[in-house]
Amino acid sequence: MVRLQTSFDYHNLLVTGGCGFIGTNFIRYLMEQQDFGGRIINLDKLTYAGNPHNLADLSVQFPKRYVFVRGDVAEVKVLARIFEEYEIDAVCHFAAESHVDRSIKKPDEFIRTNIVGTFQLLERSLKQKNFRRFHHISTDEVFGSLGQEGYFTEETPYHPRNPYSASKASSDHLVRAYHHTYGLPITISNCSNNYGPFQFPEKLIPLMILNGLEDKPLPVYGDGKYIRDWLYVTDHCHAIWLIMKQGLDGETYNIGGTSEKENIYIVHKICDLLDQVVGSTTIPSRRALIRFVEDRPGHDRRYAIDFSKIENTLNWSPQESIDSGLLKTVQWYIQNQDWVNQVRTGEYRTWIDQHYGQLE
Ligand code: NAD
Ligand code: TYD
Repeated sequence: MVRLQTSFDYHNLLVTGGCGFIGTNFIRYLMEQQDFGGRIINLDKLTYAGNPHNLADLSVQFPKRYVFVRGDVAEVKVLARIFEEYEIDAVCHFAAESHVDRSIKKPDEFIRTNIVGTFQLLERSLKQKNFRRFHHISTDEVFGSLGQEGYFTEETPYHPRNPYSASKASSDHLVRAYHHTYGLPITISNCSNNYGPFQFPEKLIPLMILNGLEDKPLPVYGDGKYIRDWLYVTDHCHAIWLIMKQGLDGETYNIGGTSEKENIYIVHKICDLLDQVVGSTTIPSRRALIRFVEDRPGHDRRYAIDFSKIENTLNWSPQESIDSGLLKTVQWYIQNQDWVNQVRTGEYRTWIDQHYGQLE
């Protein structure tokens, strides 16, 4: 079977979850690309992780090319209206519940948004005339946990071990099934842990930066020797857009950051960067704030990605090192105190309630 590259001349791209961390960075990135002239429709439910202020300036700068709709990807009526009204011809699907710790405490929304939401989006995409591409954003966590050796490839069998990764694995299977069964044009990417601007401070890196700035304790789970591969978010955005332009229909691509580090290494680095950039406060070094706390149940020991497929076929590799990426990230949080305060005080939630009221 000859597989043609899908044309990337998308006119109306539906981005789901665009007010979250990676979605915000992706929309900002795409609006700057010379080879994208279309319109972005950002559908976001604005859960605790979604902040419409992240993109408020785009509505002013690009009134015809950027549209925000508050709504739930799992709601059939909302999807029907958006697909029809905006003549959607491609989807880039970020919307998800994304935090492992929350999934352990209360998995319900993970099932609804990550599985049912993806299903409804696939169903609606299938009905759309002239639909070009459904790109699904997924995670390396679907592959489970590695020992000291080895890497996840696109062929690694799925072995999710917590409710978050199980819900993402289910959504990946559904996306592939819609391709194989109904011929829906799809691509999938599975990436490692992202970090960078606009990340909600429940994840390791922004939590450590914000707590470190306030001299609050820095909770490190277990022995701190769990290993993650860290991917700077702009490198990820670049890879996603490349896949959407040149990735082959039906294919999956792994995306990694060549930055495998123990958690304790990352936390030490952040302490040292904060000490250098803002200076020490009452304590000689922020490393003194580190507290080893009770471990996460079912904690995956190590993730590591073999991204040679995207490197060899689409000529992508990460540009940021962990040192350059962490410095940029620390600087962003220091320079964006308004954003930090809004998130910390929950002020953006009050604003959302006043402006949007009830969900559609
Ligand atoms: P995030 O939690 O920061 O943002 C998720 C966004 O989705 C929020 O804006 C939220 O309001 C929105 N949302 C949640 N439920 C929704 C619903 N039912 N309908 C519409 N919108 C809804 O997440 P993120 O870190 O930006 O992750 C984006 C995607 O990337 C997710 O699919 C996640 O699984 C995947 N991913 C993330 C990472 C990472 O390190 N952050 C790594 C691998 C994969
Ligand atoms: P996290 O940022 O929650 O991402 P994920 O669970 O998707 O990998 O966690 C990254 C690593 O950091 C993970 O091994 C758990 C650990 N961690 C801590 O040690 N302390 C913390 O406060 C948090 C949030 C995470």
